[in-house]
Amino acid sequence: MNQPIIQLNNITKRFPGIVANDHISFEVERGSIHTLAGENGAGKSTLMNILYGLYQPDEGEILIDGRPVRFNSSKDSIACKIGMVHQHFMLIPKLTVAENIIVGQEPGSALKVDRRGAEERIRTLSETYGLRIDPARRVSELTVTEQQRVEILKILYREAEILIFDEPTAVLTPQEIDELMTHEDVYSNSAKCQELAEKKALHSARLEELYDLWAELED
Ligand SMILES: Nc1ncnc2c1ncn2[C@@H]1O[C@H](COP(=O)(O)OP(=O)(O)OP(=O)(O)O)[C@@H](O)[C@H]1O
Ligand SMILES: [Mg+2]
Repeated sequence: MNQPIIQLNNITKRFPGIVANDHISFEVERGSIHTLAGENGAGKSTLMNILYGLYQPDEGEILIDGRPVRFNSSKDSIACKIGMVHQHFMLIPKLTVAENIIVGQEPGSALKVDRRGAEERIRTLSETYGLRIDPARRVSELTVTEQQRVEILKILYREAEILIFDEPTAVLTPQEIDELMTHEDVYSNSAKCQELAEKKALHSARLEELYDLWAELED
């Protein structure tokens, strides 16, 4: 087997009165898509927050590309090319799509950077990955799906190779879910997106959706 891009070994995380993650181990291969399934409170978000550096494990280790890492914050995980789309988006409504994507990612203030160059790159990314959005629009004018696209583009813009989605469908309508699933398919399969086939996603999904997916696969 190839070197896994992610290895979690015996991750344990305790909160007062509860063990949220009890010696969790798993590996993820480059180019693969995984779903993390479990009932409410099972510890999915906790584990993904640990992988993203928002929480520190009480026990266990994380290896990225075979190298042990210690994430003290998301800054550290971002440096290891990990990106996360949270259930609650973290966009600044009064800024544009492009400003939200480049804020904190380019040296200097978002307002002083090469805005045209950034918008151009965002347009290319959004075409490549089928995430339609006008970089010049203000986030306050966007629908929830469009905001989610911005969050995904934000991660792709900084060239993350490990994409974590925490319940990406929870905020979407059934039609929007179909559309997102199409994109996920694109991430792993499309010839046009070979580049993204190199990347991988982890997500916590709802169990009913997973059962539907299994049913489809079995057909
Ligand atoms: N910051 C925290 N402080 C204290 N307890 C927490 C904290 N975060 C999570 N927990 C607890 O840890 C357990 C696991 O929670 P977690 O959010 O990881 O579950 P989940 O699988 O993501 O659930 P859901 O499907 O509802 O999103 C729960 O009992 C939760 O109440
Ligand atoms: Mg959760």
